[in-house]
Amino acid sequence: MTAPQPKSGILDIEAYVGGSSTVAGVDRVIKLSSNEGALGPSPRAVEAYRALADDIHRYPDGHATRLREALAERWGLEAGNIVCGNGSDDVLQLLTHAYCGPGDEVLYSEHGFLVYPIAAKACGATPVTAPETDLTTSVDALLARVTERTRIVFVANPNNPTGTYIPSEQLRRLQAGLPEHVLLVIDAAYAEFVDANDYEDGAALVRAHSNVVMTRTFSKIFGLGAVRLGWAYCPPAIADVLNRIRGPFNVSAPALAAGEAALADRAFFDLVRQHNLYWRAWLADRLVTLGLEVAPSATNFLLVKFPDARAADAFLRARGIIVRAVASYGLPDYLRITIGREDEVRAVAEALKELVGG
Ligand SMILES: Cc1ncc(COP(=O)(O)O)c(C=O)c1O
Repeated sequence: MTAPQPKSGILDIEAYVGGSSTVAGVDRVIKLSSNEGALGPSPRAVEAYRALADDIHRYPDGHATRLREALAERWGLEAGNIVCGNGSDDVLQLLTHAYCGPGDEVLYSEHGFLVYPIAAKACGATPVTAPETDLTTSVDALLARVTERTRIVFVANPNNPTGTYIPSEQLRRLQAGLPEHVLLVIDAAYAEFVDANDYEDGAALVRAHSNVVMTRTFSKIFGLGAVRLGWAYCPPAIADVLNRIRGPFNVSAPALAAGEAALADRAFFDLVRQHNLYWRAWLADRLVTLGLEVAPSATNFLLVKFPDARAADAFLRARGIIVRAVASYGLPDYLRITIGREDEVRAVAEALKELVGG
């Protein structure tokens, strides 16, 4: 007798490792390793979360109706075409499970988000990568790797961990070049941070085509990573598919309450966005002045090249500053640094000055 065996492909998965949050021997760390909101969640979201405490014996609204309506109003979408998930990871996994199986290919770019190959392998599908140009998604390289087995193309725009984005015209070229049966998933987890007038989040493409989905999250600009809340904007047929396979209560009541309140707090959203734009530019400028190479970022983090990234990581950790090593993304010479509060950004700039200067 043998022990139960998982489906083929599952044991090839390297489990996702999140950004660490502790350093041995250091009490107060500066955590810049997970692209969490620099200023935390909106106080109104925290209040809504707390207000729910006496009701946690009640099941949540399994249709996330109020949140979907609020999202639809905020971003000009149709509520019926929105499907919410337990983080956007949940919707990325659901999409892969619904559309891919053994023998199918899931295509994404070289330094794309690690959840894509994990989701592909979990379904027995084969992850396929396309090289990037200057740490940026290459539409030509992706299109060149589409085969009759390709089922999904994932594009994080902007991308994590590179921070770069492709402009609207490139995204549209990608969609136009894909066969109709290939699903294009535009993962716009960092859309709210982009400050470029040639960018689009993908919603208009979803509305115009039956093979495009856009995913979004409350974990980044809204600072709600702990409650796990994300969503997909889909063509009706794809929303229908996701609603059939998702967990019936895949979004918790605290997540729904916090999400609705966060969405309503426009002033806090604007504050976080402005904070990020200012300190992202400030930090990039400092690091470039130190002679470090910084990838152009449209997100709430910077990808920085070091002569010895491991040594730089150790140097920062010894000072209680945790950033993200990205060797697992094929970027062994880089560290990814999240834009935090002002004191945190200043601290990392100071430490790197000491490292480079010393
Ligand atoms: C590109 C990208 N997509 C999706 C996610 C998942 O976000 P969540 O599951 O917290 O919504 C992340 C988080 O780091 C990300 O960087």
